[in-house]
Amino acid sequence: MHRPKAVLFDAFGTLFDVYSVSHVAEQLFPGRGEKLALLWRDKQIEYTRLLTMSNRYMPFWDITCASLRYAVERFELPLDAAGEAQLLNQYRHLSAFPENKPVLTELKKRGVPAGILSNGDPAMLAVAIRSAGFKELLAHVLSVDSVKRFKTDPAAYALGPSALGLPAKDILFVSSNCWDAIGATWYGYTTLWVNRQGAPLEQLHTDPTRVGASLREVLSFFP
Ligand code: LAC
Repeated sequence: MHRPKAVLFDAFGTLFDVYSVSHVAEQLFPGRGEKLALLWRDKQIEYTRLLTMSNRYMPFWDITCASLRYAVERFELPLDAAGEAQLLNQYRHLSAFPENKPVLTELKKRGVPAGILSNGDPAMLAVAIRSAGFKELLAHVLSVDSVKRFKTDPAAYALGPSALGLPAKDILFVSSNCWDAIGATWYGYTTLWVNRQGAPLEQLHTDPTRVGASLREVLSFFP
């Protein structure tokens, strides 16, 4: 097994728990909140792909606002300005999964450099990192905003090797989005798909290097 020298994490859904957003949505629209949160997330990712495929760019925060508006219209939900602010505010201040801080702390103890490689724009990432108390634990915060192309564009994944000065194979890329883990595998990273939900593997004839049920699996790469 190839031993990587550093770790890069995806941010939203991997380090930061987006579940709290469906919780607030469910409070606003009982019985329909979860559906809203799902379409919101799907549209958000769809817009990143549409824009990058057409050589266009909008910061991830703007996409997050636009995709919420789409999902609200699609389900004809009576979302007023206060409700919208509440949902967006929740997205801005996500909590971290409980195992994440201990894992980042342990990586630091083992001398493994760790960072983020995310579609999120720098302002969004800074707030999320601060709310989760991760600032001291992350040596690199890489945002696709610097290349204006979203994952899975190779230009986005190229940020990792370039910032860390390592070949992609020597970097463990960790994502709970299977498509992201596969995109990173195609690029050449060693990869871990954190499959917290027991979702099926994307049927793209590619396996991540390893699949785990929680972020703790990261530590098995650095015995
Ligand atoms: C990110 C999204 C894809 O942080 O979760 O890049």
